[in-house]
Amino acid sequence: MADLTTRFLGLTLRNPLIVGSSGLTDSVEKVKEIEQAGAGAVVLKSLFEEEIIAEMEETLHRMTSRQFIYPETFDYMDEDVEEDSVRKYLRLVQEAKAAVHIPVIASINCVTSQKWTYFAKELQEAGADALELNLFILPTDFSRSAEENEKLYFEIAKEVLSQVTIPVLLKISYYASNLGQMIQKLSETGIKGITLFNRFYSPDFNLENYQVISTNVLSKPGDLSISLRWIAVMAHRVNCDLAASTGVHDGEALIKQLLAGANAVQVVSALYKHGYPHITQMLDDVTKWMEQEGYDKIDDFRGKMSQAKSSNPAAYERVQFLKNFRHFVYQL
Ligand SMILES: Cc1cc2nc3c(=O)[nH]c(=O)nc-3n(C[C@H](O)[C@H](O)[C@H](O)COP(=O)(O)O)c2cc1C
Repeated sequence: MADLTTRFLGLTLRNPLIVGSSGLTDSVEKVKEIEQAGAGAVVLKSLFEEEIIAEMEETLHRMTSRQFIYPETFDYMDEDVEEDSVRKYLRLVQEAKAAVHIPVIASINCVTSQKWTYFAKELQEAGADALELNLFILPTDFSRSAEENEKLYFEIAKEVLSQVTIPVLLKISYYASNLGQMIQKLSETGIKGITLFNRFYSPDFNLENYQVISTNVLSKPGDLSISLRWIAVMAHRVNCDLAASTGVHDGEALIKQLLAGANAVQVVSALYKHGYPHITQMLDDVTKWMEQEGYDKIDDFRGKMSQAKSSNPAAYERVQFLKNFRHFVYQL
């Protein structure tokens, strides 16, 4: 029987399949189902500072529309709302840890620097095995240069690392002025891993009522290629682990990310579509493939198709449809 055991962030996982942060990981019951289905680890739904702020504003609106309140009330109310949300999340971490044996990775997304460190410390106290920083700064702030924007990633990583001893994983997007170098430099900050890449709420237009709506909430199998390219390019060039995320919908895609050099692979959309039993199916497919190819353990083939090991490294950097596609015709 093939051995799928994996080392990731200094932790031992029974296999490299991690259920990624999402609504699929926001309760203890769901985390238990994930463990039962066979996943190697779980990243809990992010604790969003932005959501806490929105909740505070809503409470404030409700209070002010009903009665006059003394200004001091605002301070107490803000603290109460924040404490309540944070307390709920800390309870989720504690209860999930008590309920399952697989590693439980907490996740945060903040807008102010104090909160990154405050939440990080609290989550470590609550028993999280590791912490994923869901880090994304959309480069639409015209007052900041690319350098200033990207510096924030390093500052947040540094501040969080100064406060916790559990492994820290950075989940980033591919919006960077020099992505390869940025990933490499981030890997040298002391963090234990980088997740490539997060996938975001994307806008679309409704032509009937001129409203902005969300689209493509779930990824498709074809979305695999961006993270596959970057895992393959960055493997053997970073000083930390790499987790692949986006477009992993079946066992084959999981195998491809491991061949590219991923240490672990996160899955979300495929489980929204097929349910938690799909985890078992994906892992069975990996096991079958390993046995068919004669691999006893994951390290026997991990990174075998990374750019550094490739006999054709240029294939990973090709971006233009050159001569091979000259005669490409649309087929019905
Ligand atoms: C409904 C939904 C909720 C999500 N919530 C979070 C979240 O709270 N934090 C986070 O870091 N990523 C979140 N994500 C992003 C996923 O963790 C993942 O990075 C992304 O969906 C790409 O992986 P996939 O192709 O397997 O879906 C969410 C994704 C979906 C579809």
